[in-house]
Amino acid sequence: MNVLVAGGAGYIGSHVVRELKEAGHSVVVYDSLEHGHTQAVAGCELIQGDIGDPVTLSSVFAQYKPDVVMNFAAYTSVAESMTDPAKYYHNNVRKTLVLLDTMVHEGIRHIVFSSSAAVYGEPERIPVDEDARCLPTNVYGETKLMVETILAAYDRAYGLRYASLRYFNAAGAHPEGDIGEDHDPETQLIPLVLMTALGLRPRLQVFGQDYDTPDGTCVRDYIHVSDLASAHTLAAEALVEGAGSRIYNLGNGQGYTVRQVIETARRITGREIPAVDAPRRPGDPAVLVASSDKIKDELGWTPRFPDLEDIIATAWEWHKSHPKGYRS
Ligand code: UFG
Repeated sequence: MNVLVAGGAGYIGSHVVRELKEAGHSVVVYDSLEHGHTQAVAGCELIQGDIGDPVTLSSVFAQYKPDVVMNFAAYTSVAESMTDPAKYYHNNVRKTLVLLDTMVHEGIRHIVFSSSAAVYGEPERIPVDEDARCLPTNVYGETKLMVETILAAYDRAYGLRYASLRYFNAAGAHPEGDIGEDHDPETQLIPLVLMTALGLRPRLQVFGQDYDTPDGTCVRDYIHVSDLASAHTLAAEALVEGAGSRIYNLGNGQGYTVRQVIETARRITGREIPAVDAPRRPGDPAVLVASSDKIKDELGWTPRFPDLEDIIATAWEWHKSHPKGYRS
């Protein structure tokens, strides 16, 4: 396949780019480099551009004629989406609409879209399957659901086929240790825990201790970023081979509390990792655990790193060797 990866220089995008190339596909990365890192896609064809720029997009589509587009270009902070919703509606929805319109105009018919468990909000039942009610509790989740709504309409009207992948908690780093998570500012639990283990932060704050969970802290389903990557390759291959549009959850079906994550990280790193109780973070659902049976049954997806230990161990290798991320 010829694949254009928008946002390919970011955390998940760069792992997908690596996976696609290893599977023998031809890849061009399209990234504004606002948050992406050129070092994350070293040796790849990289075009600096914005998904909201139809002129540059058109010429790139005309030149590379991708069979499929993947879109990782989005802002991802739940908290920021509540304080600056305009930024999220403009970037995650309006600019994605420009990308989709340009694809339709240029006759490119397949897209793999990065969606999120945030579309579900506070789930009615666990594990969450793809038929669960979608009622996002934050603007970030709303933007992902809006794009899914647009995709369904563009499929019906223009024949644009899509796979929308709803990630639960992406974590870990490439087992080769040369690409990994580097956000500024960092807000995700596992990198923050490991940065605390390295002494780069004095302590970890545990947000909320009174949830209805085994130890009172939130439960999440962590999925290795390389397993997310293989799911993207499978979904793209299926689309190019003629499959219809699909929505898939991506998680391991296993929930861990915040305290269990910290304990596991203490074991793996052998470091103390000071943690203090802090108030609940607004908008956090108590429990999010995926059923990923649909993508396993339909595409034969099999995670290689389903264990939390392996997920944290690969992240630890990355953070130890790159304490300042790509600036190390
Ligand atoms: N947490 C802490 N302390 C921290 C950071 C996080 O206790 O310093 C807790 C959070 O409160 C939450 C858990 O760790 O209970 C995981 O938090 P993350 O920020 O790592 O991840 P989220 O579950 O908030 O976010 C994920 C995805 C988002 C998605 C969201 C849906 O990263 O893209 O799930 O709720 F929108």
